Amino acid sequence: MKVGSHIEKLIPYIPGKPVEELERELGIKSAVKLASNENPLGPSKKGIAMMKKYINSLHRYPEGGCYYLAKKLSEKIKVPMENIMFGNGSNEVLEIIGRTFYESGDEIIFSQYAFIVYKLVAQALGAKYYEVPAKGLAHDLDKIGEHITKKTKIIYLANPNNPTGTMFGRKEFEGFMKKVPENILVVLDEAYSEYVEDKNYPDGLSYLKRYKNLIVVRTFSKIYGLAGLRVGYAVAEKGIIDYMNRVREPFNVNTLAQFAALGALDDEDHIKRTKDLTKEGLEYLYKEFKKLKIDYEKSYGNFVLMKSPVNSMELYNKLLKEGVIVRPVGGYGLPEYLRVSVGLMEENKKFIKALKKILKN
Ligand SMILES: Cc1ncc(COP(=O)(O)O)c(C=O)c1O
Repeated sequence: MKVGSHIEKLIPYIPGKPVEELERELGIKSAVKLASNENPLGPSKKGIAMMKKYINSLHRYPEGGCYYLAKKLSEKIKVPMENIMFGNGSNEVLEIIGRTFYESGDEIIFSQYAFIVYKLVAQALGAKYYEVPAKGLAHDLDKIGEHITKKTKIIYLANPNNPTGTMFGRKEFEGFMKKVPENILVVLDEAYSEYVEDKNYPDGLSYLKRYKNLIVVRTFSKIYGLAGLRVGYAVAEKGIIDYMNRVREPFNVNTLAQFAALGALDDEDHIKRTKDLTKEGLEYLYKEFKKLKIDYEKSYGNFVLMKSPVNSMELYNKLLKEGVIVRPVGGYGLPEYLRVSVGLMEENKKFIKALKKILKN
């Protein structure tokens, strides 16, 4: 079947290897997966309880607009419901933004090493896009600003970014926004915002009144531990949300996902435990990397990018044989690096033990 050349060129997203698949392939047990920036504590118990409550309503279609979840989130983040739109994961939200606002001839901008889905969205649309050179591994907002043309329509920014773990600060963001004309959408992807403790972090939600062309995108996949259910959301000016709601599929977020997210939103204990565990895990990994003289990038998320002291794919494959799954990032143009998600402390220790064993041989 013939497809457009932009579809022909699309390189599919490669997800992290599932634990079960690796165990089956290698005939091993108790492999650990540190490859998809998931929550190692599992889903919020309050989320699970809510899901159980709604399991007997699965013969019904879901709430089309996620009414109860929207209401609860609206109270929590102090933004009217009409300014919120939900997606089947934030990936879908990122895609709906493209499908809603891109018109033939428009250009899309994002940073080198940015989250790969921005490029996939642009490619699927057949859009012209610019990957603006990073500053080290971080977004260079000044340079991104310089790439704006009359045709620019959407700018995707990840803060913190995956896979680099880098963050830009408030001053940098505000300076950038001053330069962006109001007819260009700035999509601030904050999938890891809940992990950030830095006082200089520009919390996107606090800027929505100031910048009418800003869309903040968040997810329940990371700190809330609901990656398997697929719930994410956009917060933006009412008119923007209204257009996106016209484009999304009517029942795009399933019932269990909606109610699990609603339960998880309240689960302060789960959130705190996740943050504490992530902090402890990152500190442990940094300390061990330093001992091994391995370079890494300080991370503001729940993962860390390490520079592999040997061929990264060789190291990745040897780690697999030791029952540890990490993520190669050659597809991001970072062939010398591996991304490691923070796991439970025993998982982090298993990874370091395997790493030491491999590097010794
Ligand atoms: C920066 C960033 N944005 C968005 C996503 C998509 O998350 P989800 O579709 O699970 O909400 C991810 C997932 O890894 C991410 O790292």
